Amino acid sequence: METVIQAAHAKSSEILNHNRKFIPGGVVSVNRAVQPEIVFVKGQGAYIWDADGNRYIDYHAAFAPHFLGHNDPYVTDAVIAVLRRSASLYGSGTTELEGQLAELICRHISAVESVQFLNTGSEATYQAIRLARAVTGRDHIIVVQGGYNGWHDDVACNLMTPLDVVGQRVSPGEYPFIPISAGIPSEHRDLVHPINFNDLESVDYVCQKYPVAALITEPILQNIGIVKPEAGYLQGLRRLADRFGFILIFDEVKTGFRHSLGGYAKIAGVIPDLIVFGKAMANGYPIAALGGKKELMEWFVHPDPSKRVLLAGTYNAHPVPTAAAIATIERLLMNEGEVYRHIEALGQEMQEGLERILRSLSLEAVVARQGSAFCIYFMDHCPKDWHDLAAHHDVRFDESLRRKVIELGIYFFPLATKQCSISFAHTREDIEATLDQVSCALKLISG
Ligand SMILES: Cc1ncc(COP(=O)(O)O)c(C=O)c1O
Repeated sequence: METVIQAAHAKSSEILNHNRKFIPGGVVSVNRAVQPEIVFVKGQGAYIWDADGNRYIDYHAAFAPHFLGHNDPYVTDAVIAVLRRSASLYGSGTTELEGQLAELICRHISAVESVQFLNTGSEATYQAIRLARAVTGRDHIIVVQGGYNGWHDDVACNLMTPLDVVGQRVSPGEYPFIPISAGIPSEHRDLVHPINFNDLESVDYVCQKYPVAALITEPILQNIGIVKPEAGYLQGLRRLADRFGFILIFDEVKTGFRHSLGGYAKIAGVIPDLIVFGKAMANGYPIAALGGKKELMEWFVHPDPSKRVLLAGTYNAHPVPTAAAIATIERLLMNEGEVYRHIEALGQEMQEGLERILRSLSLEAVVARQGSAFCIYFMDHCPKDWHDLAAHHDVRFDESLRRKVIELGIYFFPLATKQCSISFAHTREDIEATLDQVSCALKLISG
C-alpha cells in the first residue's frame, strides 16, 4: 500500500476550473459535486487515479455499477469485439444481441418473464410506473422515504429530507411529498404518497384512502447506506399488492446482480410484478432493464392503441452496453458463482475488520452490510428506516471519516451514508490496506 497522503489536487483544480466555464457547476450530475474536488482520469480493477497521479482504492464504484471492477478485461474484450465486427445502432427492428441479453435475463431471473431495455435506471423506473398506471387505470403511487428511484417527477422526493421538514414519525400514515428538485408540478403532491420503509401498516393506510397504482421500492434502501427489510416485510408488500390490486415494483437498480443474479427478490423469495435493473448489470456501461410478468409487459405492444404504453428510445439496447451486459452476466455465471463467493468473503472480512476497529476505539457505531455493499452508521443500531437514521446517525462524523480516508488513498464517497461497494477486482490485500487506513483516519478524527 502506498502511504502517500493524497493532498495535492492542482491538476484536478485546473480541469474543474476550465469545465466550470462551460458546464454549470463544472459537473454533469449535481450529485457528483462533492468535497474534496478531485478529477479522476483512470480506473482499473479496484483502483482509480486522479489527474495529479494519486491512486485510490475505490469503494464508490461510480455509485455502484463497477461490480467486477473498473474496465474488467472480459467485459472490455466483449465491447471491443462488438465494435470490431462493426455492430452498430440501427433503430429498426430487433437485433440478435438484444435477444441474447433478454434470454439470459429471463432464464436466470425468476421475477422476469419478459423484458425491455432502456439506458438508465431513471428511464426504467419511469416506464415501470407508467405501465402500472396504464394497467390499473389508477394514478396514485406509494414511494418509500430514503429510497431513490431516479430523477423524474414522481419519485424525486423524500430522499434525505431533514426531519424538521418532513415531520415526526407517523404510523400508520403518510408524509408530505417533499421534492428534491424545483420544477415538479404541484399535482405530484396529491398523487405520490411517501411512507417509511418497513412500515406495512402505512401501506395499508394509504391503500384504504386512495386508488393506488403502484408501490415502488428498493428491496434494501441502498441510497442511504444499507437499510434492510425486516423479516416478513417484503412478503407483506406482496400480500398487500395482491389484496389492493396495486403493482409491486422492486427497484433493483442497485441491488440487482450485485447481491445475486436473481436480484434481492431471489434472496427474499418474493416475486414482484415488475422489476428494474441497471448499474451492475453491465459493469459500468449505460443500460437498464425493466422486466416482470408477461401479461403486464405485453401492454407495451397492446393491440388496442388507447391502452398501449409508449416505450421508446433512440439508444435503447445500443450494441456496446448490450454486449457489456451479456459479458457481465456470463462472467457472473462462470465457475459456479466464483464472483459472489469472492466478494462475500471480502465483504465479511471488511465487516469483521471494521467492527474490530470501532470496538477497539470504543466508538458507538455499527456496520451494515449485504454481500459487497456496506456502510458504517455512527449510532448504536442499524437503522430500520429514514426517521430512525436521521434521528440517530452522526452525519458530521461520517463525513469527516470519508474525507480523511480519501486523504489516505481510500475512496469512500464523501457524502454521509453513501454505500461503499466492493468489487470482484478487490483483493484481501486491498481490504487489509483499507482497514489500516480507516483505523488511522478514525484515530485522527476522534482525536
Ligand atoms: C435504486 C436506484 N434506482 C434508480 C436509480 C436511477 O438510475 P440512473 O442514475 O441510472 O438513472 C438509481 C441511481 O442511483 C438508484 O440507486
